[in-house]
Amino acid sequence: MPRVLGIETSCDETGVALVQDGMILAQELASQAELHSLFGGVVPELASRRHLTVLPRLCDELLHRCGGGVDGVAVARGPGLLGALLVGLNYAKGLAFSLGVPLAGVNHLHAHLLAPGLEGDIPYPALGLLVSGGHSHIYRMDSPVEFELLGRTLDDAAGEAFDKAAKVLNLPYPGGAIIDSLAREAEPIPELFPIPYVDNDNLDFSFSGLKTAFANHAASNPHLRLRSLPGEGSVNSTKEAVHPEVPGVLASFSHSVSEACRIKLARALDREAQRRMPVAGLVLAGGVAANSFLRDSMVSLARERDLPVILPSFALCTDNAAMVALAGGVLLERNLGHDNSLDAVPRGRKVPDDAVSGLGFAGGERVDIG
Ligand code: KG4
Ligand code: ZN
Repeated sequence: MPRVLGIETSCDETGVALVQDGMILAQELASQAELHSLFGGVVPELASRRHLTVLPRLCDELLHRCGGGVDGVAVARGPGLLGALLVGLNYAKGLAFSLGVPLAGVNHLHAHLLAPGLEGDIPYPALGLLVSGGHSHIYRMDSPVEFELLGRTLDDAAGEAFDKAAKVLNLPYPGGAIIDSLAREAEPIPELFPIPYVDNDNLDFSFSGLKTAFANHAASNPHLRLRSLPGEGSVNSTKEAVHPEVPGVLASFSHSVSEACRIKLARALDREAQRRMPVAGLVLAGGVAANSFLRDSMVSLARERDLPVILPSFALCTDNAAMVALAGGVLLERNLGHDNSLDAVPRGRKVPDDAVSGLGFAGGERVDIG
């Protein structure tokens, strides 16, 4: 079975991984969270420059550890931060050319949805909920290469809502994980915040109303705001420093987000049944898939509908290169790939299905650069 090297640089994680036959042989991941925490969010230019210096080192380490042996290169080509993507893309093109192996440009969103496949089998056809820093999307997944977008983010994505809520309370960046660990210690007050954008008949998501409700609540309860960030901003020091009401407020916020997701996913299941295209399982993906409230509500929805639910482990929820290698391998094995004109796709733009037949593993001759 061919070995695929995956490269991920779409945001603030630099990742490389080697995947063979759906198994991770090795991976390296360097987070830039510390760099961007100084600014309370990702600074695109700093992200690109950090990828530029870190990626070659990670790649060398990985190849050294695995003794080479790469049959194809896969790279996240968007959506993401344009400059950051270009670093990974150019590196991938150079590497594929120098090794004489095929290249596949991967849709970062599809890679998230396929990530649970590194730990088990995805039950196709499946409904996938992708919730990350930039997206809250519902997909029908008929196979590893067939994705139908059924519902999408209209404004702030789920992860963005978590990050902004954290910022309002002056909690350390990135906010999602810290909110989750605080919220887990309390019971939600279900009526504290609205369940956003569910009184309609569509499958789209809008978290901006919830974000405003949260900001208003914080403004009228200034004691909830952390006065100064605890020294190293660790989970434990933050837990000790926050006001005792904060975990309950965050549990209520997390409850509202997860309820919105549960309601829309239940609606999507009903719609697919009405279309006489019932699905065989649910897949949760993206950084927010690590959220404990969301995981619990997906498990209870799946139980209600008597369906299996695939929850990726935490490391596979957030950005990583193993999912990129897996998704690239899926294309290359179908003899699909890209040439050196592969372009990056910035956030907010649709990633085209432009992989070309004949450029994958069964393709023509490899380039010999002697
Ligand atoms: O998928 P991802 O790593 O990057 C993007 O492609 O956006 O997702 C990052 C997002 C951030 O907004 C982060 O705050 C959120 O995922 N996140 C969480 C949790 N862990 C990460 N949100 C809620 N609960 C968590 N446990
Ligand atoms: Zn992502």
